[in-house]
Amino acid sequence: MESLSQSLRRRIEQGGPITVADYMAEAAGHYYNSRDPFGAAGDFTTAPEISQMFGELVGLWCAMVWQMLGSPDRVVLAEIGPGRGTLMNDLLRAAAAVPPFLKAAEVWLVETSPRLAARQRQTLAGRDVNWCESFDQLPDGPLLLVANELFDALPVRQFEKRDGTWFERMVGCTEQGFEFVIGPQAQPDLPADVLDAPDGSVAEVCAQGRELAKQIGRRLNRQPGMALVVDYGHVRSGTGDTLQALSRHRFHAVLETPGNADLTAHVDFQSLAAAAVPARAWGPMTQGDFLRLLGIETRAAMLAQAGGEKVAAEIMGQMRRLIDADEMGTLFKALALASPTLAAPPGFVC
Ligand SMILES: C[S@@+](CC[C@H](N)C(=O)[O-])C[C@H]1O[C@@H](n2cnc3c(N)ncnc32)[C@H](O)[C@@H]1O
Repeated sequence: MESLSQSLRRRIEQGGPITVADYMAEAAGHYYNSRDPFGAAGDFTTAPEISQMFGELVGLWCAMVWQMLGSPDRVVLAEIGPGRGTLMNDLLRAAAAVPPFLKAAEVWLVETSPRLAARQRQTLAGRDVNWCESFDQLPDGPLLLVANELFDALPVRQFEKRDGTWFERMVGCTEQGFEFVIGPQAQPDLPADVLDAPDGSVAEVCAQGRELAKQIGRRLNRQPGMALVVDYGHVRSGTGDTLQALSRHRFHAVLETPGNADLTAHVDFQSLAAAAVPARAWGPMTQGDFLRLLGIETRAAMLAQAGGEKVAAEIMGQMRRLIDADEMGTLFKALALASPTLAAPPGFVC
């Protein structure tokens, strides 16, 4: 069977260079459907895989938002991009502390990779869970949506400024392998101050992420609810080549071995919030502040006390990874998208 490298090469030889977004979409589709990439034996780890506390606190957040919605008898509790299903599993365990919420929750996982959906079925065995492949397939009703490290995996287009003009960056190929080449002149959909950047600047646009934020915003304007987006990225739109590949927890060349390394780019939270209007955006705030406000220090102390010295050291180490400024605490951010009439979500201030 033809490898992804071979089919990409054939595509480029027949039709010319492809956009960085097309390359990333092909690579990500293959990547997530050919392995379980998480944890020490995989390529990268995520907050729910680092500690149960992450999913538990998100569960608490969801229970509080459900109360803000008036404790409806039925709420669509959905996660998009659920990985191994670990976050949802921890969330549901913590939600057991609020039995009417757990009873009201109709759980949905939005996943494009059949392989990871099978992994989620294992993690969540015995629970009543539904799957679908896209956000617009979720059933109607009050909505609680969680997306952790989904948006960074969605394809970005890249643009380069040369002699005062923006051009699309494309992926071509030579005998030796894939390479970045300069493509047609372009007008990236970015704020004027970003477009004014000096020559040599690189800018990124994640059209798929914006489209998803737009769909979420429309839905939250029609039906009550909130979405919690946690990811790594920048508060304001800016310039910079942030596309990166990780393999076995190490940086890897972006165009080497397509589909065999995790490709991500920083999330532009400003553009997501703008795309989600008329939903109201709260934050983004840093993951460290968000988890502290939700009580991670208290939860860690409880878990540490319940175990021995070794467990306590592990729990404290996990907490530091999630909240310390030089770990995930500052680079990762939490953004809430909410129905416009709702008050501030738990953990968020005006
Ligand atoms: C980096 S993983 C994050 C996993 C999980 N949220 C976590 O924190 O461990 C990205 C997840 O999003 C899924 N995914 C990628 N593109 C998607 C899309 N367009 N819609 C839904 N899921 C998607 C992947 O298959 C994978 O489950």
